[in-house]
Amino acid sequence: MTVATARAHPNIALVKYWGKADAASNLPATGSLSMTLDIFPTTTTVRIVDRDLDRVVFNGAEREGTVRDRVVRFLDHVRLLAGREDRAEVITENTVPSAAGLASSASGFAALAQAASTAYGLALDDRSLSRLARRGSGSAARSVIPRFAVWHAGSDEQSFAEPVQAPPIEMVIATVDAREKAVSSRDAMQRTAMTSPFYPAWVTSTAQTLESALEACRSGDLERLGRITETNALRMHAAIQGSDPSIRYLTPRSWAIFDAVAQLRGEGVLAWATADAGPNVCVISPPEHTAAVAERIGALADVVIARPGPGVRLQETDA
Ligand code: DP6
Repeated sequence: MTVATARAHPNIALVKYWGKADAASNLPATGSLSMTLDIFPTTTTVRIVDRDLDRVVFNGAEREGTVRDRVVRFLDHVRLLAGREDRAEVITENTVPSAAGLASSASGFAALAQAASTAYGLALDDRSLSRLARRGSGSAARSVIPRFAVWHAGSDEQSFAEPVQAPPIEMVIATVDAREKAVSSRDAMQRTAMTSPFYPAWVTSTAQTLESALEACRSGDLERLGRITETNALRMHAAIQGSDPSIRYLTPRSWAIFDAVAQLRGEGVLAWATADAGPNVCVISPPEHTAAVAERIGALADVVIARPGPGVRLQETDA
């Protein structure tokens, strides 16, 4: 095959990945746990072409510079695995509204891993595909997997994501601020590891937290998983804030949503909040409580509801 198209969705971590054990192979310092969403897919076509250079087109515009460099480096790794040298054209359509502030690198590199490996003639199993996506962006390892995924820390061979069973959960995504974030997650992660005195505690506590979260998943204990999710996110933000110079992603509006979620819990609604490297807040709840959460949070921010979604999939290629 010389052309392949794949589609993947973003994921939101319930136990976060924040820090690398090895930057070259993109190995995480700790394992993490996530929900793959059913909204905002990224669709990527990779076509082997008779050219001297790779071409990268993102939402209809040809890209140069760092975005292209990151894709080319990724393709170089695929070519190494495939023993090939030919160049490729990469065409990506991303439906994540930039206003939603969701990381597109997870869905982007999951779709690229599937499309590129197929176009270059590699037939990777799910583990190898997840390991490959990880090299593009750590969180992309998890977007290969449908619904809920655990991504393992460890060596290159050990560090892939795989499915886990979880209690029924939906997610209300609240857009607090659509502006581009001030410090990219990649840079902030590095600064946290280099300068935050809380980073070692983050790493040791998160390794334990992941074990508890997996136990909560196994026993179907939604309330335990919810508490773990919110605490783990706040610990990540505490470690980030401890950096020098300090980085603060959560804004007063983000905190207002955390407060509203705590208030909902006080009223008997099961809901817990999390936030990635930005001000937007995602609230998990059992399906029967999602409407109440969306209504309350909808008064504070634009909201959209996401459910557990599919893993990466090959698609028919148009033309
Ligand atoms: C806060 O996966 O974007 O969303 O591996 O450097 O590309 P790189 O980082 P990335 O970081 C995601 C950070 C996070 C937490 C998470 O998704 O687990």
